[in-house]
Amino acid sequence: MKREIPANIAIIMDGNGRWAKAKGLPRTKGHLQGSENIRIIAKEANKLGIKNLILYAFSTENWARPEEEKNYLFQLPKLFFGKYIDELKRENIRVSAIGEYEKFPASTVSVINKAIEETKNCTGCNLCLAVNYGGRREIMLAAKQMAEDYKKGIVEEINEDCLSDYLMTEVKDVDLLIRTSGEVRVSNFLLWQIAYAEMMFVDCAWPDFSVEELHKCLEAYQYRDRRFGGLKNEN
Ligand code: FPP
Repeated sequence: MKREIPANIAIIMDGNGRWAKAKGLPRTKGHLQGSENIRIIAKEANKLGIKNLILYAFSTENWARPEEEKNYLFQLPKLFFGKYIDELKRENIRVSAIGEYEKFPASTVSVINKAIEETKNCTGCNLCLAVNYGGRREIMLAAKQMAEDYKKGIVEEINEDCLSDYLMTEVKDVDLLIRTSGEVRVSNFLLWQIAYAEMMFVDCAWPDFSVEELHKCLEAYQYRDRRFGGLKNEN
């Protein structure tokens, strides 16, 4: 391999519904299998030394889904952390979350907060779940707070670094964005943070996105020439 692995990866975990439909299963089974896959990919990312793995678990637009599906998605953090929190801790994986997940049912919120609390001293990969997250809303909220702080004199100068500090993510720049399931769009995910990210759109559905698929993406990333608006790197 030619270059270092990306420090910060974001994944749009798409295709759970189609995965289930292709197997004659209800969509919820696709989401369940998708959440099982979070464990596999997070463990591998941690093993590889990836610092931040940000996963799109529920967007601000997902409220438009049928009640039954939303209710199922609200249950998944409980199932997932109930089964795997000890393992995540053992693996030194830190859980965090972005998005206004406090608008989820109280029991889901407390499960997510508990996972964050229980893993707060872990120093391995930061497994960041985007829950009730939308990129435009994140930027709007950041700009609003920054403007308020500017009026109060807490902020002296408005610039890109300053706005960036008001975003929900610890990570300000994503290196690699992966979307599964063949769709080629960004769907309001981390709009600010992906400004210079390499994009990869893979055909397999999220439940089928294996460790091998991750490795293929990382290898392809290492052969991309990241120029950040500058000139070609001839090294
Ligand atoms: C998109 O696939 C996927 C989602 C909207 C949900 C993603 C959520 C998970 C993988 C589980 C989250 C679990 C935890 C523990 C936070 P889709 O349903 O839009 O797929 P389709 O395009 O094939 O219908």
